[in-house]
Amino acid sequence: MKKITVVGTGYVGLVTGVALAEIGHHVVCLDKDVEKVELMCSGISPIYEAGLEGYLAHHLRTERLEFTTDPAVAIDGAELVFIAVGTPELADGSADLSYLREACMTVAEYLSGPATIVIKSTVPVGTNDLIEQLINEHALYPISVVSNPEFLREGQALYDTFQAERIVIGSENKATGELLQEVYAPLARPVFHTDRRSAELIKYASNAFLATKISFINEMAALCDQLGANVDDVAWGMGMDTRIGHSFLKAGAGYGGSCFPKDTKALVQIAKEVEHDFQLMKAVIDINDFQRHRILKWMKDHYTNMRGLRIAVLGLSFKPNTDDIREAPSLKLIEALIECGADVVAYDPAAIPNAKEVLAERICYAYSVEEAIEKADGCLIMTEWNEIKETPIEVYHYLMEHAVVFDGRNCYSLEDAKRAGVMYYSVGRNYAS
Ligand code: UGA
Repeated sequence: MKKITVVGTGYVGLVTGVALAEIGHHVVCLDKDVEKVELMCSGISPIYEAGLEGYLAHHLRTERLEFTTDPAVAIDGAELVFIAVGTPELADGSADLSYLREACMTVAEYLSGPATIVIKSTVPVGTNDLIEQLINEHALYPISVVSNPEFLREGQALYDTFQAERIVIGSENKATGELLQEVYAPLARPVFHTDRRSAELIKYASNAFLATKISFINEMAALCDQLGANVDDVAWGMGMDTRIGHSFLKAGAGYGGSCFPKDTKALVQIAKEVEHDFQLMKAVIDINDFQRHRILKWMKDHYTNMRGLRIAVLGLSFKPNTDDIREAPSLKLIEALIECGADVVAYDPAAIPNAKEVLAERICYAYSVEEAIEKADGCLIMTEWNEIKETPIEVYHYLMEHAVVFDGRNCYSLEDAKRAGVMYYSVGRNYAS
């Protein structure tokens, strides 16, 4: 058992802290947000993640997990300090490292002995080198920095931690890399050792590649519409080749969330700084932005004038099983619908409280699929929650004023839509609508 400090209890920090406690370490999580720390101390998770609260409450009881706002309590005696603070997007698309710098200065000030600093935050290549230099300049004890990027998906973060397909450890000396491997040993997952810069780039390259798969299939969807093919079948047929695989080939309204949009733009900036024009990445970003214009065009062409029409929007979160609406494609489409004069009524199984903070009273909120679509002139599906996908398509026919469904996530089969008498638009399959 090691004493480990985790700085930052955002998504990555909290999941990491809880997982390290679960595998037997003594973990103290440090955060500046008093309210959040109080919440976590009482066993409540400030984020929506299946299973997380159970582990959190359990390890408060085992006393392997603590939360504090006091850096002296958190950092004193720590052998390893994990830093998992945010690196949000700056106006030019590059990563804002100010939280990271602040966290490093705090660590430097409160360290009570030599330590290993583990960087979980997604940072531009070379940042770990700068961090090592910065902390060593200000701390009384020598430290080494290890890059240890995370590959957690929201909604599956605990599974992705306990069943990780790889643990990437980027270090400049063997002993530090091995120390971190020892920390993770109880997980018994594959470990890949590399240098720090390569580890930093593995994180960006992984997200960028997944985003590329999505934009690729969305571009194929546009082609399918023109050529009379079905993108879902094209994706399936492609994916049967194990070199391609089925995952991340679901055409739809585009990717959102706190990672892909930010990391793809940051990678373009990282390349720009070394005078490399990353054209492929720029195209991936443009195609993703264009997806929502394609969906809006279906609607504009269908209605010519949307003023006063009641449009139901099903799904607000950037993907199912999360309440996260950051960079959710739904938000931009709703803004566009409001601009067109439509009366929007939205439903989401989890994200309404977050949506209210952004959209406030500019739209109405419903508390079930049925309530949202009742008497609606059109329905736009933006997130493929099970609850939405499993709503029989006939329900739209019976409840809506005009049964027109614009499906940004291809939740229904064309045959079912036709049989139910629903006018149905979907991504890359429109030839049969
Ligand atoms: C993503 C990565 O999958 C994680 O490996 C990574 O650790 C994480 O970012 C991060 O950098 O922290 P996440 O943002 O939680 O995880 O969500 P994903 O499940 O990857 O989905 C991202 C977006 O892509 C969603 O909006 C989803 O709807 C969209 N998507 C995904 C598609 O449009 N089509 C697909 O086939 C797959």
